[in-house]
Amino acid sequence: MDRIIITGGRPLRGVIPISGAKNSALKLMVASLLSSEPLTLDRMPRLADTRFTATLLESLGVAVDWPDAGATVRFHAREITSTIAPYDLVRKMRASFNVLGPMLARVGHATVSLPGGCAIGARPVDLHLKAFEAMGADIVIEQGYVKAAALRGLKGASIVFPFVSVGATEHAMLAAVLADGETTLENAAREPEIVDLANCLNAMGAKIEGAGGGAIVITGVTSLREARHMVVADRIEAGTYAIAAATTGGEVRLEGAVAQHLGALIQALRAAGVEVIPDADGIVVRRENGRLQPVDIDTQPFPGFPTDLQAQFMALMALADGTSIARENIFENRFMHAPELSRLGADITVRGKEAVVRGVAKLHGAPVMATDLRASVSLVIAGLAAEGETIINRVYHLDRGFERLEEKLVACGADVRRDGGSA
Ligand code: EPZ
Repeated sequence: MDRIIITGGRPLRGVIPISGAKNSALKLMVASLLSSEPLTLDRMPRLADTRFTATLLESLGVAVDWPDAGATVRFHAREITSTIAPYDLVRKMRASFNVLGPMLARVGHATVSLPGGCAIGARPVDLHLKAFEAMGADIVIEQGYVKAAALRGLKGASIVFPFVSVGATEHAMLAAVLADGETTLENAAREPEIVDLANCLNAMGAKIEGAGGGAIVITGVTSLREARHMVVADRIEAGTYAIAAATTGGEVRLEGAVAQHLGALIQALRAAGVEVIPDADGIVVRRENGRLQPVDIDTQPFPGFPTDLQAQFMALMALADGTSIARENIFENRFMHAPELSRLGADITVRGKEAVVRGVAKLHGAPVMATDLRASVSLVIAGLAAEGETIINRVYHLDRGFERLEEKLVACGADVRRDGGSA
């Protein structure tokens, strides 16, 4: 199994091109199921998760044309040839569950495995299913499968989410675009990925208003047309490299990063004493001298501090000159990186939703193990800042969500390499 070996202590200096957002791309790809006309996506990130989603879509009848060296991918769902997404395909990646809504909307029925929990928490899909029921679908759960049917088509509905869910908002949008009449989504998620999905669906001929705000109105249409769309820049990837540059010191320009998508992080970085300068097509992050200042973070739905950057920011807090607190409010089990960071010399105490991080002057390299995507990359950041060698096992987590990670870091002067050692 591959592992990543980092010799730390070098500041990052250079330019990092930001890829298309994984968490947007996965839903945009699935949107191709809604139309018999092709959907072309530019700036597609080449990741284990996007390749896997392409395979899943192919199994449902979508022709996927993804040239070996390209970031432009064409999806053509002329016909849906299967409406079943089996356990083996959904269990590997929760976002696969999102094929349910589009198939239900286009064909009138679908059978999709329940995704189950994952390392960061239980992650139910009750809000997704309630939204489809409100649109008139009959839902039966049998032997771990959701069987959904709306044989006379979905109907527009008024849906009020009891709390904010990115996945349920996206999934409801994906179904409502082909429903008969108007659907309103209240207490909708406001993440940039929601806006990206709405923009893409609108380019396909959907009628969605209000994405990016708490209330989204979707007027159903009978069919969608051919479209081309560029995946939004990955704010979590950009944020990760911003934190890496802040933690190691140095100066990095994040090319293509969108400052408006990273407001809460930028505020936290500035509070830690890091210079963050947005420019026309990117963000410059600079820290030359002195210790980082302690900063508390509290994860919240957008525009709050993203849960997907909490682990990375904890690596920065570990080296601050004082005590910081990280509060995780989105997922119940998202501190698995804390004991691994402690192996590198961090001083972290986890109490329920809170991690108390007492900053230390130095981290020291050690072998560590990754448990999920964002936890893994927090260990990469800590390893880049630590003295000596850090070996990160279970690198496949990183490959799910970071495109050309080693290449991007090496281009900024980091000493990072991958080898095929055992985990
Ligand atoms: C998306 O997950 C992202 N995944 C996550 O990124 C991200 O952490 C999360 O949004 C929050 O920003 C993708 O986009 C593929 P939610 P999602 O529905 O949609 C609970 C990463 O590392 N909930 O907003 O699944 C849920 O358990 C990943 O890239 C229900 O109870 O997140 C969680 O506690 C990890 N019932 C909370 O809501 C439901 O029906 C928010 O989850 C749905 C969600």
